Amino acid sequence: MVDETSIFIGASRKPDDSYQRAEELLLRYGNRHGLVTGATGTGKTVSLQILAEGFSNAGVPVFCADIKGDLSGISMMGEAKDFLVKRAEQVKLDPYQFQEFPVIFWDLFGEQGHPIRATTSEMGPLLLSRLMNLTEAQEGVMNIAFRIADEEGLLLLDLKDLQALLANIAERADELSARYGNVTMPSVGAIQRTLLVLEQQGAANFFGEPALRIADIMRTTRDGRGAISVLAADKLMMNPRLYATFLLWLMSELFEELPEVGDLDQPELVFFFDEAHLLFEDAPKVLIDRVEQVVRLIRSKGVGVYFVTQNPLDIPEKVLAQLGNRVQHALRAYTPREQQAVRTAAETFRPNPDFDCATAITQLATGEALVSMLEDKGVPAMVQRTLIRPPSSRLGPITPDERRKIIAESPVAGQYDQVVDRESAFEILQKKTKEAQDAEAQAQQQKSGGSRWTIPGFDDVLGTGNRRSSNRQTVAEAAIKSVVRSVGSSVGRAIVRGILGSLARGR
Ligand SMILES: Nc1ncnc2c1ncn2[C@@H]1O[C@H](COP(=O)(O)OP(=O)(O)OP(=O)(O)O)[C@@H](O)[C@H]1O
Ligand SMILES: [Mg+2]
Repeated sequence: MVDETSIFIGASRKPDDSYQRAEELLLRYGNRHGLVTGATGTGKTVSLQILAEGFSNAGVPVFCADIKGDLSGISMMGEAKDFLVKRAEQVKLDPYQFQEFPVIFWDLFGEQGHPIRATTSEMGPLLLSRLMNLTEAQEGVMNIAFRIADEEGLLLLDLKDLQALLANIAERADELSARYGNVTMPSVGAIQRTLLVLEQQGAANFFGEPALRIADIMRTTRDGRGAISVLAADKLMMNPRLYATFLLWLMSELFEELPEVGDLDQPELVFFFDEAHLLFEDAPKVLIDRVEQVVRLIRSKGVGVYFVTQNPLDIPEKVLAQLGNRVQHALRAYTPREQQAVRTAAETFRPNPDFDCATAITQLATGEALVSMLEDKGVPAMVQRTLIRPPSSRLGPITPDERRKIIAESPVAGQYDQVVDRESAFEILQKKTKEAQDAEAQAQQQKSGGSRWTIPGFDDVLGTGNRRSSNRQTVAEAAIKSVVRSVGSSVGRAIVRGILGSLARGR
């Protein structure tokens, strides 16, 4: 059954419900993106699961978010349940083999997988402003903050670096306003407060080092299968903005780091964007435009992006137009908006004279979909009513014990588990403040005749400057890395920010 050039999706049926033919996704068009839509419980997650299985078997690494925990079963061998075996027969999947897949679990909170982190600097002011839902004026201040950090060589790694920088900016507001334009205290204060909220929501875990290496989500196993990175997103969904910002960041990192490759026999990576509506919900137009641009251009880097969402109307038209491989599960059509969604979904397909698309969409059974994949020359195939194949891996979630075992045996075990907190803006600014305070204290002391008792070295121990000395790198090591980072942050990162980072609103 394993065909090197395509992924088996299921079987389409004739108007009399008899078997018609196998439906496949051609791997050479895997980078032409895709869309999986359908109402709750219609089979989206299972469709995602069988696509991820297919890509992995073909040697293509996969990144996907697991919103409800039910995708985690992809890491375990499936079982021959009656309804699955029956479906395998219906779609002529023979032999129906069970398989477990090489999964790496990730979690922004570090609980259900390896922690994923990014530095504040990599995230950039545009995405941070979106994450924090800042006003235009506040976003302006955020842009200035990043410029100051670049110019003054202050590394922004975690949230406390940003806090320290903002506090410093507040102190120098007059001087900075003269140099960069309006830096008002209310704006700075508002950003500081929003940052606190962000920290309370647990986002602090996400910002810092070691930051995720893109190579770690592009792994293949020794037997040539693509690793499937599964991001635990159940808790993350309580902060939808963090979820959306993180995925946008990841996409822009991929875009920046991967070379141009043109069209390959198969993608280098596919990326599934579940609950994709969250990306676009009250996003500023400039960001939507950028996402559209990244989706368009990332194709030539060999990355396929697959949006998964309930309603195709959730996706902006320009983005929708770029999603070549489509799996449309059932939609309800009670309200006018739902009816509109059905019509829109129906109209995007190349019609099939055998049935009316809009009617069919409302009648599809669970695990059944209207499917249209790109065929020869990248043209969308005529839409077909397709019964989706059953997965080879387990349907449904794994147990906490099973998860722990996989995490412990993962190829990235130990690489991300410990936070590294090296000298950055927070420490540097704190040192400066302390030096200023010391100088003042000394001046005071001289004035009052120098009667204060001091124990040599004691001041240092009490001072905050030495707090984390235990896991500090050597000074030289830190200095070298810090130069590398700042070069990276002023040259390399400036480009990242050019894509999704630092665009001023309204441009
Ligand atoms: N291709 C399939 N083969 C066999 N069973 C399927 C298939 N697709 C769906 N099912 C059955 O339907 C159930 C619901 O499917 P699924 O979880 O994929 O829905 P969903 O659209 O992701 O729902 P939600 O929006 O609630 O996440 C599955 O648990 C499974 O029992
Ligand atoms: Mg689902």
